[in-house]
Amino acid sequence: MADDLRTVHIDTAHDSAWKHVAGSAPYIDDLPEAAGLLHGYMGQSTRAHAKLLSLDLTAVRAHPGVAVVFTAADIPGKNDVSPIYGDDPLFAEEEVIYVGQSLFLVVAETRAIAAAAAALAVVEYQDLPALLTIAAARAAGSVIEPAQTMKLGDVRAALASAPRKLQGNLVVGGQDHFYLESHIALASPREDGDVHIFSSTQNPSEIQHLVAKVLGRPDNAVVVEVRRMGGGFGGKETQCALFAAAAALAAVRLGRPVKIRVDRDDDMVMTGKRHDFEIAYEVGFDDQGVLRGAAFDLASRCGCSADLSVAINDRAMFHSDNCYFLGAAEIVSHRFKTHTVSNTAFRGFGGPQGMMGIERAMDEIAQAVGKDPLDVRLANLYGPGRDLTPYGQTVEDNIAAELIAALAEQSDYRARRAAICGWNESNRWLKRGIALTPVKFGISFTATHLNQAGALVHLYSDGSVMVNHGGTEMGQGLHTKVAQVVADAFQIKLAQVKITATTTDKVPNTSATAASSGTDLNAMAALDAVTTILGRLRLFAAETYRCAPADVVFRQGEVAAGEAVIPFTELVRRAYFARVSLSSTGFYKTPKIHYDRATHQGRPFYYYAYGAAVSEVTIDTLTGENRVDRVDILHDVGRSLNPAIDKGQIEGGFIQGMGWLTTEELIWDASGRLRTHAPSTYKIPTARDRPDDFNLSLWNGDNFEPTIHRSKAVGEPPLMLAISVFSALNQAVQACGEHKVPGRLDAPATPERILMAIEDVRRRAAAA
Ligand code: MTE
Ligand code: MOS
Repeated sequence: MADDLRTVHIDTAHDSAWKHVAGSAPYIDDLPEAAGLLHGYMGQSTRAHAKLLSLDLTAVRAHPGVAVVFTAADIPGKNDVSPIYGDDPLFAEEEVIYVGQSLFLVVAETRAIAAAAAALAVVEYQDLPALLTIAAARAAGSVIEPAQTMKLGDVRAALASAPRKLQGNLVVGGQDHFYLESHIALASPREDGDVHIFSSTQNPSEIQHLVAKVLGRPDNAVVVEVRRMGGGFGGKETQCALFAAAAALAAVRLGRPVKIRVDRDDDMVMTGKRHDFEIAYEVGFDDQGVLRGAAFDLASRCGCSADLSVAINDRAMFHSDNCYFLGAAEIVSHRFKTHTVSNTAFRGFGGPQGMMGIERAMDEIAQAVGKDPLDVRLANLYGPGRDLTPYGQTVEDNIAAELIAALAEQSDYRARRAAICGWNESNRWLKRGIALTPVKFGISFTATHLNQAGALVHLYSDGSVMVNHGGTEMGQGLHTKVAQVVADAFQIKLAQVKITATTTDKVPNTSATAASSGTDLNAMAALDAVTTILGRLRLFAAETYRCAPADVVFRQGEVAAGEAVIPFTELVRRAYFARVSLSSTGFYKTPKIHYDRATHQGRPFYYYAYGAAVSEVTIDTLTGENRVDRVDILHDVGRSLNPAIDKGQIEGGFIQGMGWLTTEELIWDASGRLRTHAPSTYKIPTARDRPDDFNLSLWNGDNFEPTIHRSKAVGEPPLMLAISVFSALNQAVQACGEHKVPGRLDAPATPERILMAIEDVRRRAAAA
């Protein structure tokens, strides 16, 4: 038998790549519309915080083409679509708490009619004071939960005795997900008041549970299905429930299919984003720039409800060390509640914001001790005898030092930095900056129970395979990777394995496809199911061909048993006639992890994913315009299941992170209205923002832990590599003050902010 039928550790295209490019991959709005289908549109609050005095929907109901209008009074079950805390009403009742909050649902013949009718509502509000910013919420003491503290040693003593000290702060903006497919749900009534929902969701089980609660029905009355999303990025972990529940309510009440497709502007106004943060830090260090202690104060804007903010802010705390041993540490995290849309998961899940503080501190320490920031970073990495995180987990799989050294070498960092310093001295209007920043990202859901997955594998009698698992496909290539693993285990061709839509009636009680662990969890569950089926086939072959079960070998589409070598499909056919079960479920739960939230101590992460990037930028000191000239990335995905897909994730994550830290700016006005709710005013990176000189390579090394084929999660960590762009921009700003004082650029580094930071650095440098 030949040895070249490998389906893992190889480049294969995403299973839908051709369809994505041709525009023929069906998303929910592309599905054929059933006869009698109606469209829903949500009437929204125009006030940030107000008492709802009256809601007159007479004109809405009378509008031609309107079938029915639903309000909170029509909900048979619970008026809540929140994931955990019961604080996200489907329709507002007595009070509105943000601009864009849903008040009612209009169901009409077309979406345009429903939207036009919704505008006819007469709503009487009595305005209440609105807290819109972190500062306002801080002053009012408005929080979603009490501040949390994570501690290692005695930080006050460490800071007091450190030879040198500095303090700083940094503002980091939020980010809209800007998935290409905005939120959508299509609900169809089934018999006995049951309902089937196509939802663009990362979390079908949760949508199922929430819809069931709203309808006052058991979970088994609701089926949620998703074949693919046009991007999720965390924005479809929880917030899709609003639309799915409204569509389901209408479909069940009317006995007709109902679709709610949210357009870009409404999507941006109605759904939560990445949390913006205000970060303050105090660090003590020696003359070499080595930390003795670090204190962080993290404040985030959670918006009007808890959503996932508790876990997101926890993850910000977990990553405020990034790759560095802080010495003694204290991380205090404030979770502020405001009258703005409820912020939610976004690629990195608070981790990126957490890392921003320590990376800025590294740059400032370097400026203070007059060293290359890379040397300060290297001197502070976790290492032997300095490997304890502030949350009590020991860093056992540390490859940061080797990885950074390799990247510095292959990107020619040292020589380029020297050249840039020289260049800046002789150029007045343009300034350049270069920075190398690393990433260490903890893999696992920090809520331990979520680290489980199920799968269902059918081997049909013709030898073709159907796989279902709890994970969802949002473009990241999860289905492709799981199919690769299944094909490899059966030793058949990838084309023989089909993965279908994720649906709650095939694999139940699943977790969101999130925390980058989709492949880690679901490929393991699928492998478990395949292993069960293979075990049965092995016994059958051993009996049939008279050999020991251990001597049955599946390889290259064939099965060797005793003297016999038969095609896999032939063995499957015979097994079917011999009444061998060819279908199995599979299950997986992540080992080793535990966490005590009361003390913020434990081993929350199974392992860490590492990476580093060098970015070089140029800024125009007259206009604030800027350009990323060159990027070099070295990223650790363990032993890659699919290098092509992993590189796509790294590139996409990096560019998305770059957008967050440079061009994407969310602006709410004084009345709490989002003013940047379309691509005309909200600027995501375009193809032209991709640096021309973009070099990406994968770290060559296995995961220390026995994950699926020793691979590592890749979805989120690369986003944080973009901190190198921000740091390089700040270096360029700092050059405007001849590096006499630290740069104090805030994010996003728009041209305006860069200009302001240049003025500020010049002013401080002149005074220094
Ligand atoms: N890649 C694409 N193309 N589209 C997405 O929506 N979401 C990201 C990341 N990569 C996303 C993506 C986020 S936030 C996560 S958590 C992971 O994919 C989820 O998928 P995984 O666990 O299978 O990596
Ligand atoms: Mo990703 S933010 O964990 O969906």
